[in-house]
Amino acid sequence: MTLPMPDRKTADLPGHWLFARLGKRVLRPGGLGLTHRMLADAELSGADVVELAPGMGRTAREILNHTPGTYTGVEADPNAAGVVRTVVGERGRVVTGEASETGLDAGSADVVVGEAMLTMQTHMHKAEIAREAFRVLRPGGRYAIHELALQPDNVPEVVKDEVRTALARSIKVNARPLTGAEWTELLTQVGFTVEKTSFAPMALLEPHRLIADEGLMGALRFVFNVLRDSDARARVLNMRATFRRHRGNMAAIEVIATKPAA
Ligand SMILES: C[S@@+](CC[C@H](N)C(=O)[O-])C[C@H]1O[C@@H](n2cnc3c(N)ncnc32)[C@H](O)[C@@H]1O
Repeated sequence: MTLPMPDRKTADLPGHWLFARLGKRVLRPGGLGLTHRMLADAELSGADVVELAPGMGRTAREILNHTPGTYTGVEADPNAAGVVRTVVGERGRVVTGEASETGLDAGSADVVVGEAMLTMQTHMHKAEIAREAFRVLRPGGRYAIHELALQPDNVPEVVKDEVRTALARSIKVNARPLTGAEWTELLTQVGFTVEKTSFAPMALLEPHRLIADEGLMGALRFVFNVLRDSDARARVLNMRATFRRHRGNMAAIEVIATKPAA
């Protein structure tokens, strides 16, 4: 099993792939708790489910526990797609590809799930991916997302820029979180009806969240891996400091949106 970007130096790795290298499997801002809520709201049992950007396959495992009719993952990184294939096995399929051009048939899914993957796209690309989710869904189908939000809705532009710049510097990904109202607007503009939004604290690197997401042994393994590598330690401490500094303006958001029945 080869992890994404195996040749990239620790100092330059995007935060999520650094976490994966250090043994972390939950790579989204609201943790497994918000994932569980979102999957319950998405009503997966018996549904044809498409997951965009499954990463290390942690949510794929959760989706399969809901006994969907079918599972299809669409992951841009070939090594990550390989990891997800080992998780899914015969219970679904995983294609290596771009979420905005999945190649899947129109109207072929009941649920599309995507976590921590829209935030890192430009505004135009966010809309292209949402439009593709809309195309792939059947009328009445549900698009469930879990992303990073800015808060409150009227957060000044200067603060938005400050948070985005700080995130880009520390996680080495051009993260462009939106406010709750902006996430709703993005989905509404491509034709969805937003049914529900809910929030959770952005606590990715806090001890209680690490244990909740990775289990006690997983959290200890992660901490051990961080401690024994000075470059990784510097990166992780820098990311945690950035998340803490801006926690008043950041949250994880869940949105459930439906494609109107024809
Ligand atoms: C922060 S990780 C989140 C992974 C997983 N969804 C999770 O929450 O643990 C971002 C993931 O999005 C994938 N990704 C980013 N842009 C993508 C795109 N345009 N199409 C498909 N996958 C994409 C990356 O390869 C990576 O697996």
